[in-house]
Amino acid sequence: MPTSLTDSVEYRSAENSPLILHAHDLEKTVTSGERPLSILQHLNLQVFKGQSVAIIGQSGAGKSTLLGLLAGLDTPTGGELALFGESLGELDEDGRARLRAGRVGFVFQNFQLLPTLTALENVQLPLELTPMADDSRRARQWLQRVGLGERLSHLPRQLSGGEQQRVALARAFVTAPVLVFADEPTGNLDPVTGEQVIETLFSLNREAGTTLVLVTHDAQLAARCDHSLRLENGQLTEQLTTRSDGEEQTSGALESTT
Ligand SMILES: Nc1ncnc2c1ncn2[C@@H]1O[C@H](COP(=O)(O)OP(=O)(O)O)[C@@H](O)[C@H]1O
Ligand SMILES: [Mg+2]
Repeated sequence: MPTSLTDSVEYRSAENSPLILHAHDLEKTVTSGERPLSILQHLNLQVFKGQSVAIIGQSGAGKSTLLGLLAGLDTPTGGELALFGESLGELDEDGRARLRAGRVGFVFQNFQLLPTLTALENVQLPLELTPMADDSRRARQWLQRVGLGERLSHLPRQLSGGEQQRVALARAFVTAPVLVFADEPTGNLDPVTGEQVIETLFSLNREAGTTLVLVTHDAQLAARCDHSLRLENGQLTEQLTTRSDGEEQTSGALESTT
C-alpha cells in the first residue's frame, strides 16, 4: 500500500506553527532526447509557517526545478506534495493557481516580467487575481521599497538585470503572501543592493511572518535562514550552519524516514 502523506506527520512545529508545505518522496524525471533524466528522487521536505529555508547546491543540481514543483508551477513525476494542507496532486492547473493566488509569491531566476508591461503594471498583475484595497498605491509603495520609485513606467528592457530582479521581488510581495519562493534573489545584484534585498526579505519574515524558501549561492544569506539544505544527487541533506549568534544548529526540516 502506498504511504499516504497524512500518515506519521507532525502538523505543527515545536513552536506550534502549522505545516504549510510538505513534500514526500518527491520525484522529477524529464525526457530530453532519448534518455530519461532523473532530476529529483525520494525528496522530502517540511516547511512550517514563518520559517526561512535556504536551498543551496551546484548549478544544474535541480534547485530551480524543485522550487517550481514546490510552488505548484510544475508537476512532479512521483511522490506527494501538499500546500496549505491541500494535496496538489488532486488539483488541475486552475485549482493550483487558485490555491496560490494571494498566498504564494514567486521570484523567478530569470525574473519573467511581461515585456510589454511597465514596472508598475508588472507589480500590479498579481492584484488582478487578488484585488486588495488601494491596488495601485500598494504596487507603487513596493517599487519604492525596492528602490525603484523613479522607474514606474519603465519597460523591462529599459531596466538593468538588477532592477528587473527588484521588480520581480516587488511583484512577489505585493499581495502580502504567506509563502514566498525566491530563486537566487540576489544573483544579479551588486553587494550593496543585494544586502538591501536580504534585509527586506528578513524584515518581512520577522514582521509579517512571511515564510521564505530561497535558492541561493550566497553562504551569508543561507546562514541567516532557520534551515539550510543542500540539494545533491536529487535529494536534500541538512547542513550544519553556524548562525550569527554563534550557535550551531541542524535543520530538522527533512522528514524522518521511517
Ligand atoms: N524540462 C527539462 N528538460 C530537460 N532537462 C531539464 C529540464 N528542466 C531541467 N533540466 C535539467 O535538469 C537539471 C537541473 O536544472 P535546474 O533545476 O535548472 O538546476 P539548478 O537550478 O540547480 O541550476 C539541469 O541539468 C537541466 O539541464
Ligand atoms: Mg536554477
